[in-house]
Amino acid sequence: MRRLLPVPSTPDEPEVDLVEAYAYPPDRTWLRANMVASLDGAAQAPDGLSAGLSSPADKRVFGVLRGLADVIVVGAATVRQEGYRPPRPRPAYAAARAAAGQLPAPVIAIVSRSLAIDFTTPLFTEAVTPTIVITCEEAQPKGLAAAAEYGDVLLAGRDRVDLGVALDALAARGLTRQLTEGGPHVLAQIAACGRLDELCLTVSPLLTSGPAHRLLAGPTLAEAQAMRPISILEEDGALFSRYVRA
Ligand SMILES: NC(=O)c1ccc[n+]([C@@H]2O[C@H](COP(=O)([O-])OP(=O)(O)OC[C@H]3O[C@@H](n4cnc5c(N)ncnc54)[C@H](OP(=O)(O)O)[C@@H]3O)[C@@H](O)[C@H]2O)c1
Repeated sequence: MRRLLPVPSTPDEPEVDLVEAYAYPPDRTWLRANMVASLDGAAQAPDGLSAGLSSPADKRVFGVLRGLADVIVVGAATVRQEGYRPPRPRPAYAAARAAAGQLPAPVIAIVSRSLAIDFTTPLFTEAVTPTIVITCEEAQPKGLAAAAEYGDVLLAGRDRVDLGVALDALAARGLTRQLTEGGPHVLAQIAACGRLDELCLTVSPLLTSGPAHRLLAGPTLAEAQAMRPISILEEDGALFSRYVRA
């Protein structure tokens, strides 16, 4: 993977160290989103999933971002459609995570109102740290009981999840290196409540057209959020950008 921005000082700069390139800012709560899009802005490949937009390099970045995070916030639709599994502790990150006081692997935090979640899957039965279910007080009692039996329930909001409240509660638990993997509906709400510090965006060299979601799917933001690029990497025609709040 080669660096395009900041412009390398020498033409033969060595291979980018992704762990270094994507380090979280120290001593603060920071929420980054990791998303992949086609050249024409689709967040879903024609089959409705995101894998068709990815590449080996994108999967490496995806793994690094997980390796650095405390918590991965994700919408229930993405969990259902992408068949989420629990992140495994990776030897490559073990020492750094232990030194930073992090759990051996990031914990998944699913956002759901319906709690139409299969609690018998490995995401619950094999998670190293119990998977967090972020839901609201008015969620169905039966679903709440199941979520509490198999996972770790976080109530944030009365009739729907207030993402700002949820992210604060995760930070209060010490989960301050926050990563969201979407989907577009959850990401739009995170942006709307002013919590999106950084967007790690892979642009894949593909055109798809069709009805796919954009990266953010929700009402127009009250005020457009200005973002500033701090890094752009490239491999096999895909661009890996980091944009932070301007
Ligand atoms: N390109 C990418 O990088 C990328 C990343 C992720 C996903 N995707 C794709 O995006 C699609 C899924 O994304 P999506 O935007 O449709 O769905 P999503 O954001 O993953 O999940 C939406 C679900 O989250 C729950 N939810 C969201 N906001 C809530 C709130 N305020 N309170 C309570 N629950 C809430 C609801 O779950 P319940 O229905 O359980 O109530 C809702 O149905 C898939 O096709 C996936 O492949 C692409």
